[in-house]
Amino acid sequence: MTAKQLEIQRRYDLTSRIYESRYQEVQRRKYASVSAEIPSSNIILDLGCGTGMFFSELSNRAKLLVATDISIEMLRHANSRPQMALLFQSDASNLPLRCQSLDAVVSVTMLQNAPEPLKVISEIARVLKSGGVAAITSLRRKSSPDQILEWVRRADLRGVKVEEGVGGEDILCVARKSRTPP
Ligand SMILES: C[S@@+](CC[C@H](N)C(=O)[O-])C[C@H]1O[C@@H](n2cnc3c(N)ncnc32)[C@H](O)[C@@H]1O
Repeated sequence: MTAKQLEIQRRYDLTSRIYESRYQEVQRRKYASVSAEIPSSNIILDLGCGTGMFFSELSNRAKLLVATDISIEMLRHANSRPQMALLFQSDASNLPLRCQSLDAVVSVTMLQNAPEPLKVISEIARVLKSGGVAAITSLRRKSSPDQILEWVRRADLRGVKVEEGVGGEDILCVARKSRTPP
């Protein structure tokens, strides 16, 4: 892990106890927009899941909910949720998941932390099944819609929607992995 990633991990480890009281309201506003883009699926990944505040909505849409975060302390909180989710600690740019194993990926307000966002979006593209969908949000003050669409294009995904002002502060990008011909 790079020094920057270790610093981010430490920052979220330290804020995990107060994260929900501070950010619950704004994050929940984003979940409604993200959920609307995700069809009911077999396997959904919540990438950068934090304390798992999105689990209740996601578990209604997935047969299996998988979730990961770089911060072990955030994951400890996520682990105390009543919803069933398969949790593991990992860096979003290097996921211990098989290629083409997931139907959908959501990632809410995580991308702006990544030193190399293209690597994260390329990982999302790698683990998605063909025809799978990703709904990714990132802080608007850290990157532009065009920049996010460019990363999506370079990761070989098709951007199908970009929306600004999600939850008041995020950009939402919805992207699809092309179906491979039989
Ligand atoms: C602003 S919080 C959002 C958490 C959650 N998605 C939510 O809606 O509340 C960002 C989360 O991304 C995680 N994170 C940051 N960089 C990461 C990385 N490289 N890989 C995985 N998770 C990361 C942080 O630990 C933190 O839990």
